[in-house]
Amino acid sequence: MMGLTRRALAAAGLAAAAAPAALAQVAGKRPLVIAHRGASGQLPEHTLSAYLLAIRQGADFIEPDLVPTRDGVLVARHENEISATTDVASKRNFASRKKTKTIDGRQVEGWFVEDFTLAELKTLRARERLPKIRPANAKYDGNEAIPTFHQIVELARGESAKAGRTIGIYPEMKHPAYFRGVGLAIEPRLAAALKIQGLESRSSPVIVQSFEPDSLQRFRRLSPVRRIQLIAADGGPADGKGARYADMLTPGGLKAIKAYADGIGVELPLVLNLAETAMPGTPLVGLAHATGLQVHAWTVRAENHFLPEALRRGTAPEAYGDVHALLRALYASGVDGVFTDFPWVAVQVRGGK
Ligand code: G3P
Ligand code: CA
Repeated sequence: MMGLTRRALAAAGLAAAAAPAALAQVAGKRPLVIAHRGASGQLPEHTLSAYLLAIRQGADFIEPDLVPTRDGVLVARHENEISATTDVASKRNFASRKKTKTIDGRQVEGWFVEDFTLAELKTLRARERLPKIRPANAKYDGNEAIPTFHQIVELARGESAKAGRTIGIYPEMKHPAYFRGVGLAIEPRLAAALKIQGLESRSSPVIVQSFEPDSLQRFRRLSPVRRIQLIAADGGPADGKGARYADMLTPGGLKAIKAYADGIGVELPLVLNLAETAMPGTPLVGLAHATGLQVHAWTVRAENHFLPEALRRGTAPEAYGDVHALLRALYASGVDGVFTDFPWVAVQVRGGK
């Protein structure tokens, strides 16, 4: 596996000559500000520019979602189907790659990362996912290639040195059961990629996340870095084990998570009563802390489209609402970190502004 990853990185001209020194621990302020797909409220998500902007805005961690290419290189995309976030549909040479697949029990039509080598994928350019809500971001369509995980770690390392503070990396393994099934398991590739980068201790500035407990448990056997179990407000993981998120949130469920993870990454309504004007916290943070689990909440976005009704300002979906109030309520709830598309706002509110 290690050989495979080294070969794939070398093929991309990305292999590190030797394992670099580990990054220092992320220090300082809490709750952590985690830049969700970069500063994705202002630039197309999962581009090096979006991560860089997030770092310059003071984010503590940058969050890449990861999927593997046909030759096994981890790259940053939220889905393995890439027609919404790249120009692949306009590429005549790739027209025949369009397929319909079943991903996590759902039929999906389009172009899939795992059908492209890294070299092929690098000929594509990133696009804004939400051009109607984020038209300013769409002006940057076509500017950048899809970054590899290796490039993202290198960016964080370089910017940490420049800024004199450690910027952490918070990768999410996307569709891990699906990728294991097609012979492109993410867990060993991610563990190997971290090791190559010298990120291989519990104190490394890395937190690995997944919705699938089975994937986190497999990853735990390969790497000591910290892990977060993602939990949505509805449904259950897609790993075929039949678990439900509601059961994972009970005292017994949290105790079971504690056996393989350091915390939970939960959807906003699980930590805040968003229907009430004052947005009081739910009992979850206290329960999780009593179990020894950290709590990180997702996802804070500034636009009316994503905010609870009481926080919307005006009627335009793309206009910014009172995201400051949402962040204040989240911080008051006791969460240990927030995922946000707008890291600068989260940093500002954390600083009492
Ligand atoms: O990883 C936290 C949050 O990002 C989970 O949702 O769909 O944005 O990856 P998603
Ligand atoms: Ca994610």
